[in-house]
Parts: sequence; structure tokens; C-alpha cells
Amino acid sequence: MIEEKSPYAFIVGSQSSSLATEVAHLLGCEAVSVYKKIFDDGETRLRLPITVAGKEVIIFQTITEQPDASIFETLRIIDTAKTSDAKTVTVVFPCYPYARQDREIQNGCGIPPKLIAKLFKTAGADRLVTVDIHTPKQIDDFPLPTFNLSTEALFANFLRKRTEKTDEILLFAPDRGALSRVQSLAKILNFDFGWVDKQRLSDGTLKFANFHGDVREKDIYIIDDRIDTGGTLITVSKHLKQAGAQHIIGMVTHGVTSIIVLERLKTAELDKLVETDTRKIIQDGKFTEIFSVAELLTEELKKFGRPTKPV
Ligand code: R5P
Repeated sequence: MIEEKSPYAFIVGSQSSSLATEVAHLLGCEAVSVYKKIFDDGETRLRLPITVAGKEVIIFQTITEQPDASIFETLRIIDTAKTSDAKTVTVVFPCYPYARQDREIQNGCGIPPKLIAKLFKTAGADRLVTVDIHTPKQIDDFPLPTFNLSTEALFANFLRKRTEKTDEILLFAPDRGALSRVQSLAKILNFDFGWVDKQRLSDGTLKFANFHGDVREKDIYIIDDRIDTGGTLITVSKHLKQAGAQHIIGMVTHGVTSIIVLERLKTAELDKLVETDTRKIIQDGKFTEIFSVAELLTEELKKFGRPTKPV
């Protein structure tokens, strides 16, 4: 077992990520992956890779195509860390699992993001950290302190550096959910903005109505929290192009993790995709541009590891 000299014990789930390594580096400690053995029947044995007694334990999880497994793995790490005398346990999911199911969509569906928070608390977690959770209000119902970090300042800096002629830019919300974010960014940067109403039918089909904003001859940044099938960006960019937009750039926090989706987006009316590294995303030459949330997360995590002042 590794002995860490810093106040942190930084444990990464079985899906490591360059973001985890970068955050640990900025915190001045090492990101160490949990030991995992898979038995023939699919059960696993996990073992903490680092001594945790008296430490600020950070469990850093990258969401994968098997979110349920990541959640259960996290519960076991929390429980083991707590029973091994960790000082505190902070769970970091840069992309919070199940965040889109933040309300009961149909009777009997439940609200999984809240359930996950309850389970983390029951297992012994002291706090949760995430980035741009789908509907920030949902964390008000979580039963443990939850810190939802906003990428607004990062997005604003990014846009400021890359855009000179501000009157040629328009920020666009592809649904009402993204509108307040787009309005706030547009206000900071003094850009125009537009939006559209989106409806997802029960068979998954998307319907868009009421496009707002004069997009003619403009460079449009479509701002959203995440990409899943790519349907939103593909359909909205098609409409915007038909309405006379010049260039169209997709700008999302939680980016593309599937090659199939990436290929779909490349053949759509999108010139570029700007994403952060909250998920294990796929880069593709000049089409994708990635900026990191490592510093944003590190600054937040540092607050928890600071020695408390003697009274
Ligand atoms: C939905 O409300 C979200 O904010 C995103 O717009 C959505 O998850 C994108 O999904 P897709 O890429 O499948 O259209």
C-alpha cells in the first residue's frame, strides 16, 4: 500500500482518466487506482491502494458505459475508506451519473440522481463534487453537501480569446433548459443570444419549435450541458444553417464518448465541437477542441484539505 505524505489520499476508480491524474498533480499528490480483481462469476474484489487513516480521501470517478458498476464501486470504496478511519471522504463525479433523470418522467420511474446521493451518504461520504449538473436545482434535494461547479468562467474566457468581432457572434440555447446558462454567458460577454423550444417524444424523437434570434451571417455557438445521441446538435445546427448562419460550433461541458455519435456530428452542419474533459471523450483532429476543468476542480478540492486554523 502506498503511503501519501500530503493530507489527501486520492483514489481513482477502475476507469482512470487524464483529468484525475492532472487534478491529483495540481493538488500535489498521486492519483492511485483502486485494486480490482474480477472473479469468474462477475463479482469483484476491491482493495484500497493507499493508506487512508486520518486523510482527506478523494474518490475520483469517471463515468463510463457502465455507470451502475461505477456507482457500486464508489459505494464500496467510500465504505472501506470510512471504516479504515479516513478523516473525510469526498466523492468526485465530474459528470454526475443519471443527472438527466432529475424528476419523475413517468409514474414509477423514481429519481435516480437523488437515490445515488442518498446511497453515497449512507455509505459514509461527507460531500459530493460535480461539474455543470443537468438542472443545478436538483442538488437542493441531495442529503449531503454537494458542490456543483460551474464552467461559466471557463467558457467565457474561452469565447473571449477566440472571438474578436463580438457582433458576429450569437450564443444559442438548444432548449429551455440551456437558456439561463446562455443568457448569463451572453450578458458577461455582451453577445447576442437565441433559443428554441425542444420536446423529446416518448419514442426519443426530438421536436423543435419557435426559433428565436437573428442568426443570419453569424457565427453560432450552441451551448449545452451534454451530448448523448447528438440529435439535439444535429437537428438544431441544420435549422440554423437553413436560417443563414455562417459557422456553427457546438460547445458542451460533457462531451462525446461514442465514435458513432462523433461520426454523426462530423457529417452534420457543425464546423467544430468544443468540449471539456469531464468524461472520457474522443478527440478528432481539428473537429474537436478540448479544454480542461482540472483547475476548477482542484481549487474546490483544495478548500477541503486546508488545515483548520487553531482557535
Ligand atoms: C437535455 O436536456 C440535455 O441538456 C441535452 O440537450 C441532451 O442530453 C442532449 O442529448 P442528445 O445529444 O441525445 O440530443
